[in-house]
Amino acid sequence: MKTVLVTGSEGFIGKNLRVALSRLDDIKVIGFDIGDHISSLTSNLKEADVIYHLAGVNRPERIEEFQTVNTGLTQTMVSFIQEINKKPIIVMTSSVQAELDNPYGISKKKAEDILFEFSRKTSAPVYIYRLTNVFGKWCRPNYNSVVATFCYNIANGLDINISDRNKELDLVYIDDVVTAFIRVMGGKHPSSEAPFFHVEPTFHVTLGTLADTICSFKESRNSLMVPTFSDPFVRRLYATYISYLPIDSFSYSLKQEIDPRGELAELLKSPHFGQMFVSRTRPGITRGNHYHDTKVEKFVVLDGESVIRFRSIRPEGRDQRAEVGGPRSEGGDVIEYPVSGREFRVVDIPPGYTHSIENVGKKDLIVLFWANEILDPASSDTYYEKV
Ligand SMILES: NC(=O)c1ccc[n+]([C@@H]2O[C@H](COP(=O)([O-])OP(=O)(O)OC[C@H]3O[C@@H](n4cnc5c(N)ncnc54)[C@H](OP(=O)(O)O)[C@@H]3O)[C@@H](O)[C@H]2O)c1
Repeated sequence: MKTVLVTGSEGFIGKNLRVALSRLDDIKVIGFDIGDHISSLTSNLKEADVIYHLAGVNRPERIEEFQTVNTGLTQTMVSFIQEINKKPIIVMTSSVQAELDNPYGISKKKAEDILFEFSRKTSAPVYIYRLTNVFGKWCRPNYNSVVATFCYNIANGLDINISDRNKELDLVYIDDVVTAFIRVMGGKHPSSEAPFFHVEPTFHVTLGTLADTICSFKESRNSLMVPTFSDPFVRRLYATYISYLPIDSFSYSLKQEIDPRGELAELLKSPHFGQMFVSRTRPGITRGNHYHDTKVEKFVVLDGESVIRFRSIRPEGRDQRAEVGGPRSEGGDVIEYPVSGREFRVVDIPPGYTHSIENVGKKDLIVLFWANEILDPASSDTYYEKV
């Protein structure tokens, strides 16, 4: 059993790290934060095999706090660890600002030097991460993170203030930070060069693009357009945005097209995968009776009893018998697939077959559809023909 101490355990990185650590076997996680008495820090230090030293101030009320907390707390901890003659693994979150001549940067640089000196004297393993701006869930909005502020404000319908659209930012994502930190504990040394370690990947983005991307996430509930999740930054930023949704806004309704047959609603759209939609169909009703030249679909009956019918609209010709690839519907033959919601089963709808779906049950039929293109009413590639 390893004991892991997280200082700054109530902060943004601390909370995310604690949750990830708590999922590991044979790890006891103990925390220390501003509300704890200093005596609990010393007893924690006695126990700790690994220390993630995250406690720090970024925007203190009094400028001296940079020195007393960022530097002073580090010194207090190191002095005590030396006193009790321990050599825990220490991971400390410094900042890229440690290279700069400002009170925050200077206080972090001094903390780094204290830890390097400790490591030199005792050969205790020390890992200093010079972090750039970290983003992700649970970061305090309207404080020191533009991503948290934009996500929170946009998710909550508040205005955002963009000082300079072209301002460039370097960002790292909280889960990548946590993964890198946990790897260190497992004896996997960071790939970046000592003495300072960095979290990868780093994302470069302008303030304008950041704001536009987060606004597009909000708009996606109306446009139904799925963000480009193949982009690793978009995937991480979307998760961050969604984490700021107010608790009474997790659900939203879809625009329903209602007619005597039932209801139909589009769900998700993307230029890459087309679109998904759902329908509810009354007993005895048949939908469809059309074919497509290029559009293909998949039908999945979620609830109820249906028969999906196909008929090839291929004109008969001399070459029909020479066909390879197994039996096909000759013009006029109707193929039937009885499909029930009792089994989740996909039915492919190939082009060149007019098709329909009939509710043959006693209750409403619920079907999930996928089409490989977004419906364009002006050019829908849909031609009426009764099966
Ligand atoms: N997040 C980033 O983008 C970023 C980038 C570079 C470096 N870092 C560094 O990474 C560390 C963690 O960042 P974070 O974003 O998680 O910051 P955070 O949310 O402000 O967390 C820091 C935690 O430390 C606590 N703390 C302050 N003074 C303390 C003291 N004297 N003793 C014990 N705890 C104290 C804070 O309490 P209060 O909230 O009450 O002050 C807070 O809970 C900080 O050292 C920060 O400088 C962060």
